[in-house]
Amino acid sequence: MKRSRPKTVLVTGNAGFIGSHLTEKLLADNYRVIGVDNFNDFYDPKVKEKNVAAAKKNPRFKQYRTDITDFGALERIFEESEIDLVVHLAARAGVRPSLVYPRLYQKVNVEGTVNLLELTRKFEVGRFIFGSSSSVYGEQKKVPFSETDPVNRPVSPYAASKKSAEMFCFAYSKLFGIKTTVLRFFTVYGPRGRPDMAPYIFAKAILKGEPITRYGKGDTSRDYTYVDDVVTGILAAVKKPFDYEVINLGHNRPVKLNQFIATIEKIAGKKAKIFEQPRHPADVSQTFADIGKAKKLLAWQPKTDLETGLRRFLNWYSNSQP
Ligand SMILES: NC(=O)c1ccc[n+]([C@@H]2O[C@H](COP(=O)([O-])OP(=O)(O)OC[C@H]3O[C@@H](n4cnc5c(N)ncnc54)[C@H](O)[C@@H]3O)[C@@H](O)[C@H]2O)c1
Repeated sequence: MKRSRPKTVLVTGNAGFIGSHLTEKLLADNYRVIGVDNFNDFYDPKVKEKNVAAAKKNPRFKQYRTDITDFGALERIFEESEIDLVVHLAARAGVRPSLVYPRLYQKVNVEGTVNLLELTRKFEVGRFIFGSSSSVYGEQKKVPFSETDPVNRPVSPYAASKKSAEMFCFAYSKLFGIKTTVLRFFTVYGPRGRPDMAPYIFAKAILKGEPITRYGKGDTSRDYTYVDDVVTGILAAVKKPFDYEVINLGHNRPVKLNQFIATIEKIAGKKAKIFEQPRHPADVSQTFADIGKAKKLLAWQPKTDLETGLRRFLNWYSNSQP
């Protein structure tokens, strides 16, 4: 029987943490992947080179080193490639640096997204998946956070940029019939985790016996979600188009920062030396995903509990050190 051509997925941010895992899963599932990433130095670009090393060996993979704010360069990629679906993950991530570089966050996260939506429309790609964030829920007290909750009170430029990008996704889907799924990720951790995020910073310091800076008393909580679970959710969204949906991908098991640190201590067999600083105003007090919609629409259920995920993460971290 003749096999149909694999679908071609353009993944932006493919050299990053989540994007590189997604790319490998798509390739394993017989998709063609076109990666677009500018390998910027938000963290060491050598880490990103390592992230794409396996994918580069696959003939169904093509890498473009392109900035998503460069509309002309992006347009050439769309001209050269027959794209069936865009999964847009490239962004300036991280809440705290967004207070230092708000204009950059706006440019990459909002303008970059509009560039991709505009080309999706122009080249009649028809489908778009956007990697958004739990940060759009802001300092919301009502838990769990559900997709129908109002999200008009972002407390950082990063959150505001993600919410703005979501609104452009909605407008483009309504105006041009682009089938769009917005996925809101909740504190993703795991192998290749971002070096600027708490799981990486804490694991590194505790393993090395160095002090950690904890902002606040440790009573803020996060719905830490293991990267493989998030990628399974993105793949489910790749396979099931919707006219327009917003879907949370979170673990639905929030954990307080102190409990998170204690779990790393238990796995590492070492006590953390904690150095306390006041809480940062852009850090929200909690995140907690209602995942009823993901279960219903994507048949998605996170499978990795925090201790299992952190064990894998610490293992990866220890093995990845020179
Ligand atoms: N990791 C999390 O906990 C988390 C939580 C919520 C949302 N998200 C979102 O998920 C997506 C992926 O996050 P991640 O944790 O893998 O981050 P990451 O920084 O590891 O990956 C983002 C990638 O985008 C690329 N990129 C940034 N600016 C670019 C530009 N102008 N042009 C081209 N490429 C550019 C970077 O080089 C990087 O490889 C982001 O949109 C992020 O906002 C992540």
